[in-house]
Amino acid sequence: MTDATQTANTAHSDALVLFGFTGDLANKKIFPALYAMAKRGELVPRIVGVAGRPLSDDQVHQRVRDSIENEGGGIGDGAAFDKLQQAIRYVSGDYNKPETFEALKQALAGCKRPAHYLAVPPTLFETVIQSLGKTGLAKDARLIVEKPFGRDLASAKELDAVARSVFPENSIFRIDHYLGKEAIMNLLYFRFANSFLEPLWCRDHVTSVQMTMSEDFGVGERGAFYETAGALRDVVENHLFQIVALLAMEPPKSRGFADLQAAKADVFKAMRPLEPEDLVRGQYEGYRQEKDVAPDSDVETFVALRLYVDTPRWQGVPFYLRAGKKLPNTAVEVQIQFKPPAQALFEDAGGRPNYLRFRLQPTSSIALAARVKDVGKRFVGQQRELYACESLAGEEAPYDRLLSDAMAGDPSLFTSLEAVEAAWTAVDAILVDHPKALPYPPGTWGPAAADALIAGDGGWQAPVPEQACGGERQKAA
Ligand code: BG6
Repeated sequence: MTDATQTANTAHSDALVLFGFTGDLANKKIFPALYAMAKRGELVPRIVGVAGRPLSDDQVHQRVRDSIENEGGGIGDGAAFDKLQQAIRYVSGDYNKPETFEALKQALAGCKRPAHYLAVPPTLFETVIQSLGKTGLAKDARLIVEKPFGRDLASAKELDAVARSVFPENSIFRIDHYLGKEAIMNLLYFRFANSFLEPLWCRDHVTSVQMTMSEDFGVGERGAFYETAGALRDVVENHLFQIVALLAMEPPKSRGFADLQAAKADVFKAMRPLEPEDLVRGQYEGYRQEKDVAPDSDVETFVALRLYVDTPRWQGVPFYLRAGKKLPNTAVEVQIQFKPPAQALFEDAGGRPNYLRFRLQPTSSIALAARVKDVGKRFVGQQRELYACESLAGEEAPYDRLLSDAMAGDPSLFTSLEAVEAAWTAVDAILVDHPKALPYPPGTWGPAAADALIAGDGGWQAPVPEQACGGERQKAA
């Protein structure tokens, strides 16, 4: 039996320890997620925040309040908010000092199965995990680890060895929050719940696949973290690769964790090792003046790459991925480009062939582009999109969903070590051997070299503003 198939431990956690309580992630995503859990009546009775700086109770509560008001859509349910505030304790201290973990132990008194969530910079993972082990706080506990899980293959393996020396594999939850997004869960569903797709879903019908993750903002306050990461580590090796895996994998034997992870890992293992010429790195002008960024930094804020998944299904089909900050808009979109008809029967043959477009952010939609004849004698027409737009109103936010699942011991939306290592293996060489980051003006689509990379396959398709979704989904008879 492999690790991934170990029996899940489903005893519910009775406390959440949040390392990185004063961090950006806690403020933007985690407090709103905890508030949502409180509204649903799913909050654990104790939440212990840990961070370096000393804070009074009032300051702790104010932080949580500000986060929910500014990032979580406001406080609509006073009772749930009070419940959250009552559950919170705070421990300040140096992660390198045993006293911090002794104080944590006190704050957890009476709790039997805590979940420790490492929302801290990866450089602190090892220290915190070891200290949890030494203080006896790992017993019957879970470990929730934020991405990036390591900085490369070697560090991912090291980190894993540390984590597994203290926690059993079925108690380790590796977060890639993209997997908790509704639109991304729908990729798995759409691919395998429909029969019309399968015959088309291969090299015989698809010429290329492209994916854009654009953000119109810069690194903001996260310069120090970003300097250790860059776009490839920050969002490509994890978020975009997870999308590639969902698109490219063979049908898994079941929807269970082990089968899904194995099917995804097979995609990463089949990725042809990336060469420097498959990669364009860019850096927005002004990045070097951002807070905590080196004045001569070569860290990329934009990356475009071409990769191949060498399986019988995808042999020879390029997958183009690009992601960047300070681009013209904020969106995630995938396009599957189909081949043209074998026979050019009509006068307007030669335009862009049919494609399938998945919009994954900020809205969720699927569009299948097909040509439709114009009115008149001539056999010419236009490519129109058969368009299905899903309203995401009421969507559980990814962190809400993932934290609830981790506390309940459900690993389905997390990543296995095998898949994490296989993904690092695919990019390991180009993490060190790569071209210099080329400057690009903010508000543009990155350096021109990124366009050259895909020029032979019709160019990048910029995500366009979506039409608004109309209410509820329509049910077919
Ligand atoms: C995070 C990255 O993992 O994902 C950020 O560290 C990025 O740099 C973010 O902005 C995007 O995710 P979302 O869900 O906020 O669009």
